[in-house]
Amino acid sequence: MGLVGLCSAVLLLSLVALSSAAGSDAPRGVAVGFVFDPKAKCEPPCKHGGVCIRNNTCFCSKGYEGETCQYANCYPKCKNGGTCLRPGKCRCPPAYGGRYCHKVTCEDGCWNGGECNAVNGVAKCICPSSWTGSKCQDAICPQGCRNGGMCVAPGICSCPEGWLGGACHTAVCTKSCLNGGKCISPDKCRCRPPFSGPLCEERKKFH
Ligand SMILES: *[C@@H]1O[C@H](CO)[C@@H](O)[C@H](O)[C@H]1NC(C)=O
Repeated sequence: MGLVGLCSAVLLLSLVALSSAAGSDAPRGVAVGFVFDPKAKCEPPCKHGGVCIRNNTCFCSKGYEGETCQYANCYPKCKNGGTCLRPGKCRCPPAYGGRYCHKVTCEDGCWNGGECNAVNGVAKCICPSSWTGSKCQDAICPQGCRNGGMCVAPGICSCPEGWLGGACHTAVCTKSCLNGGKCISPDKCRCRPPFSGPLCEERKKFH
C-alpha cells in the first residue's frame, strides 16, 4: 500500500467514524463504504462541507443531502408546508410555528381563553362564548350597553356619568323628580300633569 493508499484508508475510516458518531438514521448523499478516491473531482463541487469521495459523488456532512449536498434536511420533517432552511431549522408558513411548523400560531396570541386553530390554512382564535374579536379581546354584553356605555367584561357595562344599571339604561337625577315625575335622562324629569318645572315642583295654575 503506497502513501496515497494509506491516506485514503485513513480517510475512509474517519468517514465511517463520522457516520457512526452521528448516530442518526438521516439519509446521506451516499452510503458509506465506497472507496475514497483522493483524485476524485466533483463538479459542481460538494456544498455545505460535503467531501468529494469519487468522481461526482459527494459524502455529505450531517444535516445535508442531495447530489452536491445542496439541501438541508430537517428531522423531524417540516410540517404544514414549512421549508428546511438549515439542519433542524424550518421556515414556517404564516399560520404555523414551532420548531417543525407543527403548531398553529395566531399572531399576538389568543386572549381570555381563546384557542388558536387553523381554518383553511389561516390561523384564527376560537373564542369562548363571552368574548369576541380577532384575539378574543372584546367582551360580549348580551344585554347591550346603552347611552354610551362600554362593555368591559362579559355582561358588565361601564356607564357614562348620569346613567346606571346593567345596560346603562337608568338615568340618574341628582335631585329626585317630585310629584310622580320620572327621571328620563340625567337630571331631566318628565312631569305628570298638572306639574311642571325642573323637578316637577310647580303646579300649573288653571283659571
Ligand atoms: C475521474 O475523472 C477524471 C477526469 O475528470 C478521470 O481522469 C479519472 O479517471 C476519473 N476517475 C475514475 C475513478 O473514474
